[in-house]
Amino acid sequence: MPERTPLLAANWKMHKTVAEAAQFVDALLPRIAATEHDVVICPSFLALREVVERSRGSAVRVAAQNMHEAEEGAFTGEVSATMLVEAEVDAVILGHSERRQLFGETDEALARKVPAALAADLEPILCVGETEEARDGGQTEAVLERQLRADLAGVEPTRLAEVTIAYEPVWAIGTGRTATPEQAQEAIAFIRDVLREAGAEADRARIIYGGSVKPGNAAELMAQEDIDGALVGGASLDPADFAAIVEAAG
Ligand code: PGA
Repeated sequence: MPERTPLLAANWKMHKTVAEAAQFVDALLPRIAATEHDVVICPSFLALREVVERSRGSAVRVAAQNMHEAEEGAFTGEVSATMLVEAEVDAVILGHSERRQLFGETDEALARKVPAALAADLEPILCVGETEEARDGGQTEAVLERQLRADLAGVEPTRLAEVTIAYEPVWAIGTGRTATPEQAQEAIAFIRDVLREAGAEADRARIIYGGSVKPGNAAELMAQEDIDGALVGGASLDPADFAAIVEAAG
C-alpha cells in the first residue's frame, strides 16, 4: 500500500490577527522542527501572507479557509484561486460545515470549487460529515456518500486522490464531543470505499478526522488504519497544543 504522509491542519476560523498569527508561527516552528508530517496552517485571508513569509523553509504549508470558484468577476467579498496562488498559498479548505450551515455553501458550488482548486494547483481539503440527527437516524453513510458524489462530481477520477477529505461529524465540531476512534475509523474507511468506487486510487488519498481533536485524544484517533491526520479547530489556537497533536501523529 502506498505511504500516506500524515496531514495535521490548524483551522483557526475567525481567530488571530496578523500580529497574533506571527507570534503563533514563531512559537510553533521550534516545536515541530523534527516533524516529517505535513503541517498546515489555515489563517484568515489577511494573515495568509504573514504565515507564508514566517514559515518559509519549514514543514509548514499554508491553506485558506474558503475560495470562490470563478477566476475573477463581480463577486463582492470573495477571493479566487489565482489570488491565493499569488500569495503562495498551498491548499484550501472547502465545504467546512460552518460554511455550509451559516453561509449557505452548496454542493453545487463545491462541485465547481474543488476542480477550480485542483486546476490552480491548490490542494483541496474537502470537509464532509453528518449531523447528529442524521447519525441518530442511521443516515451517516448516506449523507457522506451524497456529499462526496456531489462535491467531487467535476473531478477526473485520475485526480481524485489529490483531494484531501476531512471527515468532520457536525456534532463533534466545537462541542468537546469527539467521535470515538472506532466511529471515525468506520466512517473514514467508508469514505475510502466511496472514493474507490468513483475510480480513485483510494489507497493514495489522504482522509483526515476533525471534531474536538486535542492533545489527549489525537494519538488514539491517528493510530487507526485509515485516519491520515487531523483538522483541528479550537486546540490549534495554542502552539503547544497543536505541536503536541503533530507529535501524536507518530
Ligand atoms: P474543533 O473544530 O476542533 O474546534 O472541533 C474542528 C473544525 O471545525 O475543523
